[in-house]
Amino acid sequence: MASVDERAALPAATIRTVKLRARDEDFRIVQLHGNLFVCSKAHGNCCCGWTEKGRAPVNVGLYETEWERRKLRNKIHLTFTGCLGPCAIGNNALLQLYGHSIWFKDLNGDQFIPAIYEYIEAMLRAGHVLSPPPELLAHVYNRYLPAPDAGDVVSLVADEDDPAGLERLDPVCLMDVDPATARFSLQYAGQMFYFCAPGCKKAFERDPGAYLVP
Ligand code: FES
Repeated sequence: MASVDERAALPAATIRTVKLRARDEDFRIVQLHGNLFVCSKAHGNCCCGWTEKGRAPVNVGLYETEWERRKLRNKIHLTFTGCLGPCAIGNNALLQLYGHSIWFKDLNGDQFIPAIYEYIEAMLRAGHVLSPPPELLAHVYNRYLPAPDAGDVVSLVADEDDPAGLERLDPVCLMDVDPATARFSLQYAGQMFYFCAPGCKKAFERDPGAYLVP
Protein backbone atom coordinates (compact mmCIF):
# COMPACT_ATOMS: atom_id res chain seq x y z
CA MET A 1 0.00 0.00 0.00
CA ALA A 2 1.36 3.45 -0.85
CA SER A 3 2.45 5.60 2.03
CA VAL A 4 0.49 8.73 2.75
CA ASP A 5 3.23 10.87 1.19
CA GLU A 6 3.21 8.79 -1.99
CA ARG A 7 -0.55 8.95 -2.46
CA ALA A 8 -2.10 11.18 -5.06
CA ALA A 9 -3.20 14.40 -3.43
CA LEU A 10 -6.83 14.67 -2.51
CA PRO A 11 -8.82 17.07 -4.65
CA ALA A 12 -8.74 20.58 -3.24
CA ALA A 13 -11.75 21.19 -1.06
CA THR A 14 -14.39 23.42 -2.60
CA ILE A 15 -16.17 25.19 0.21
CA ARG A 16 -19.90 25.07 -0.25
CA THR A 17 -22.28 26.32 2.36
CA VAL A 18 -25.95 26.18 3.02
CA LYS A 19 -27.69 29.12 4.63
CA LEU A 20 -29.92 28.05 7.47
CA ARG A 21 -31.98 29.72 10.11
CA ALA A 22 -32.13 28.77 13.77
CA ARG A 23 -33.30 30.66 16.85
CA ASP A 24 -34.26 33.55 14.53
CA GLU A 25 -30.67 33.95 13.33
CA ASP A 26 -29.08 33.14 9.96
CA PHE A 27 -26.11 30.77 9.82
CA ARG A 28 -23.87 29.47 7.07
CA ILE A 29 -23.13 25.78 7.50
CA VAL A 30 -20.30 24.23 5.48
CA GLN A 31 -21.38 21.14 3.57
CA LEU A 32 -19.05 18.16 4.02
CA HIS A 33 -18.58 14.97 2.07
CA GLY A 34 -19.49 12.83 5.04
CA ASN A 35 -19.07 11.82 8.66
CA LEU A 36 -17.23 8.99 10.38
CA PHE A 37 -18.95 7.84 13.57
CA VAL A 38 -16.89 5.65 15.89
CA CYS A 39 -18.51 3.84 18.80
CA SER A 40 -16.37 4.71 21.80
CA LYS A 41 -16.40 3.76 25.43
CA ALA A 42 -15.83 7.36 26.43
CA HIS A 43 -19.25 8.28 25.17
CA GLY A 44 -21.66 6.14 27.13
CA ASN A 45 -21.70 2.92 25.15
CA CYS A 46 -21.96 -0.58 26.58
CA CYS A 47 -19.61 -2.84 24.62
CA CYS A 48 -17.23 -1.46 21.98
CA GLY A 49 -13.83 -0.79 23.53
CA TRP A 50 -14.73 -2.36 26.87
CA THR A 51 -11.58 -4.30 27.68
CA GLU A 52 -13.25 -5.34 30.94
CA LYS A 53 -15.70 -7.32 28.80
CA GLY A 54 -13.00 -8.83 26.64
CA ARG A 55 -13.31 -6.29 23.83
CA ALA A 56 -10.33 -4.70 22.12
CA PRO A 57 -9.77 -1.05 23.05
CA VAL A 58 -10.90 1.66 20.64
CA ASN A 59 -7.83 3.77 19.89
CA VAL A 60 -9.54 7.17 19.90
CA GLY A 61 -6.15 8.95 19.74
CA LEU A 62 -5.16 7.12 16.55
CA TYR A 63 -8.51 7.94 14.92
CA GLU A 64 -7.90 11.60 15.75
CA THR A 65 -4.24 11.85 14.73
CA GLU A 66 -4.78 10.01 11.44
CA TRP A 67 -7.77 12.23 10.68
CA GLU A 68 -5.73 15.38 11.34
CA ARG A 69 -2.59 14.12 9.59
CA ARG A 70 -4.54 13.33 6.44
CA LYS A 71 -6.19 16.78 6.54
CA LEU A 72 -9.68 15.34 6.42
CA ARG A 73 -11.19 17.80 8.86
CA ASN A 74 -12.88 19.90 6.18
CA LYS A 75 -14.13 16.89 4.27
CA ILE A 76 -15.17 14.25 6.79
CA HIS A 77 -16.40 15.07 10.25
CA LEU A 78 -15.17 12.68 12.96
CA THR A 79 -17.57 11.86 15.79
CA PHE A 80 -17.09 9.52 18.72
CA THR A 81 -20.47 8.19 19.71
CA GLY A 82 -22.30 6.08 22.20
CA CYS A 83 -23.82 2.76 21.12
CA LEU A 84 -24.49 2.49 17.38
CA GLY A 85 -26.67 -0.59 17.86
CA PRO A 86 -25.02 -3.82 16.65
CA CYS A 87 -22.92 -4.32 19.79
CA ALA A 88 -22.37 -8.06 19.31
CA ILE A 89 -20.23 -7.52 16.22
CA GLY A 90 -18.20 -4.58 17.57
CA ASN A 91 -16.03 -2.74 17.67
CA ASN A 92 -18.20 -0.74 15.30
CA ALA A 93 -18.03 2.38 13.18
CA LEU A 94 -20.29 3.98 10.62
CA LEU A 95 -19.19 6.07 7.67
CA GLN A 96 -21.71 8.24 5.91
CA LEU A 97 -20.28 9.40 2.61
CA TYR A 98 -21.92 10.75 -0.54
CA GLY A 99 -25.33 9.81 0.87
CA HIS A 100 -24.38 6.19 1.60
CA SER A 101 -24.09 4.44 4.95
CA ILE A 102 -21.07 2.16 5.15
CA TRP A 103 -21.04 0.05 8.31
CA PHE A 104 -17.83 -1.37 9.75
CA LYS A 105 -17.81 -4.25 12.21
CA ASP A 106 -15.21 -6.29 14.06
CA LEU A 107 -12.67 -3.46 14.10
CA ASN A 108 -10.57 -5.22 16.69
CA GLY A 109 -7.09 -3.89 16.04
CA ASP A 110 -5.40 -0.57 15.32
CA GLN A 111 -4.54 -1.70 11.79
CA PHE A 112 -8.12 -1.03 10.71
CA ILE A 113 -7.93 2.69 11.49
CA PRO A 114 -5.46 3.69 8.73
CA ALA A 115 -7.22 1.21 6.43
CA ILE A 116 -10.53 3.02 6.94
CA TYR A 117 -8.92 6.37 6.22
CA GLU A 118 -7.20 4.99 3.10
CA TYR A 119 -10.61 3.76 1.96
CA ILE A 120 -12.16 7.17 2.63
CA GLU A 121 -9.40 8.97 0.75
CA ALA A 122 -9.74 6.61 -2.21
CA MET A 123 -13.45 7.44 -2.39
CA LEU A 124 -12.77 11.17 -2.07
CA ARG A 125 -10.32 10.93 -4.98
CA ALA A 126 -12.81 8.89 -7.03
CA GLY A 127 -15.73 11.15 -6.17
CA HIS A 128 -18.06 8.24 -5.46
CA VAL A 129 -18.49 5.22 -3.20
CA LEU A 130 -16.16 2.28 -3.95
CA SER A 131 -16.19 -1.36 -2.90
CA PRO A 132 -14.10 -1.91 0.21
CA PRO A 133 -10.42 -2.78 -0.21
CA PRO A 134 -9.41 -6.41 0.54
CA GLU A 135 -8.28 -5.63 4.09
CA LEU A 136 -11.74 -4.26 4.95
CA LEU A 137 -13.93 -6.51 2.83
CA ALA A 138 -14.85 -8.80 5.73
CA HIS A 139 -15.57 -5.79 7.94
CA VAL A 140 -18.14 -3.92 5.81
CA TYR A 141 -21.83 -4.74 5.58
CA ASN A 142 -25.23 -3.20 4.87
CA ARG A 143 -27.08 -2.57 8.11
CA TYR A 144 -29.93 -0.54 6.67
CA LEU A 145 -32.67 -1.89 4.48
CA PRO A 146 -32.90 -0.36 1.02
CA ALA A 147 -35.93 1.76 0.23
CA PRO A 148 -38.74 -0.57 -0.89
CA ASP A 149 -38.91 1.14 -4.26
CA ALA A 150 -35.16 1.49 -4.69
CA GLY A 151 -34.10 0.93 -8.25
CA ASP A 152 -30.33 0.93 -8.49
CA VAL A 153 -29.31 -0.08 -5.01
CA VAL A 154 -25.60 0.24 -4.35
CA SER A 155 -24.63 -2.90 -2.50
CA LEU A 156 -21.16 -2.70 -1.03
CA VAL A 157 -20.94 -6.35 -0.17
CA ALA A 158 -23.06 -9.43 -0.66
CA ASP A 159 -24.94 -9.78 2.60
CA GLU A 160 -25.95 -13.21 3.70
CA ASP A 161 -29.62 -13.24 4.47
CA ASP A 162 -29.63 -16.09 6.94
CA PRO A 163 -32.83 -16.55 8.94
CA ALA A 164 -31.13 -19.07 11.24
CA GLY A 165 -30.41 -17.56 14.62
CA LEU A 166 -33.28 -15.07 14.64
CA GLU A 167 -34.46 -16.69 17.87
CA ARG A 168 -31.31 -15.25 19.51
CA LEU A 169 -32.47 -11.69 18.97
CA ASP A 170 -33.72 -9.68 21.92
CA PRO A 171 -37.25 -9.01 20.62
CA VAL A 172 -37.27 -5.47 22.06
CA CYS A 173 -33.98 -3.97 20.88
CA LEU A 174 -33.07 -6.66 18.28
CA MET A 175 -29.63 -7.13 19.79
CA ASP A 176 -28.05 -10.56 19.31
CA VAL A 177 -28.04 -12.36 22.68
CA ASP A 178 -26.19 -15.60 23.27
CA PRO A 179 -28.64 -17.98 25.05
CA ALA A 180 -25.70 -19.69 26.75
CA THR A 181 -24.73 -16.54 28.61
CA ALA A 182 -27.98 -14.55 28.62
CA ARG A 183 -28.81 -13.21 32.08
CA PHE A 184 -32.38 -12.25 31.26
CA SER A 185 -34.86 -14.62 29.68
CA LEU A 186 -38.56 -15.36 29.65
CA GLN A 187 -40.78 -18.17 28.49
CA TYR A 188 -43.73 -16.86 26.54
CA ALA A 189 -46.26 -18.66 24.33
CA GLY A 190 -44.12 -21.79 24.35
CA GLN A 191 -40.98 -20.00 23.27
CA MET A 192 -37.94 -18.85 25.19
CA PHE A 193 -36.93 -15.24 24.67
CA TYR A 194 -33.56 -13.74 25.62
CA PHE A 195 -32.92 -10.12 26.57
CA CYS A 196 -29.81 -7.97 26.69
CA ALA A 197 -30.90 -6.07 29.80
CA PRO A 198 -33.67 -5.99 32.42
CA GLY A 199 -35.23 -2.94 30.73
CA CYS A 200 -35.89 -4.93 27.57
CA LYS A 201 -37.34 -7.82 29.55
CA LYS A 202 -39.68 -5.50 31.45
CA ALA A 203 -40.83 -3.83 28.22
CA PHE A 204 -41.59 -7.23 26.74
CA GLU A 205 -43.46 -8.36 29.86
CA ARG A 206 -45.63 -5.25 29.72
CA ASP A 207 -46.71 -5.81 26.12
CA PRO A 208 -45.33 -8.88 24.35
CA GLY A 209 -47.61 -8.35 21.36
CA ALA A 210 -45.84 -5.12 20.51
CA TYR A 211 -42.59 -6.98 19.88
CA LEU A 212 -43.65 -10.26 18.34
CA VAL A 213 -43.28 -10.22 14.58
CA PRO A 214 -45.53 -12.72 12.84
S1 FES B 1 -21.60 -0.44 22.14
FE1 FES B 1 -20.77 -0.16 20.14
S2 FES B 1 -22.45 -0.66 18.90
FE2 FES B 1 -23.27 -0.88 20.88
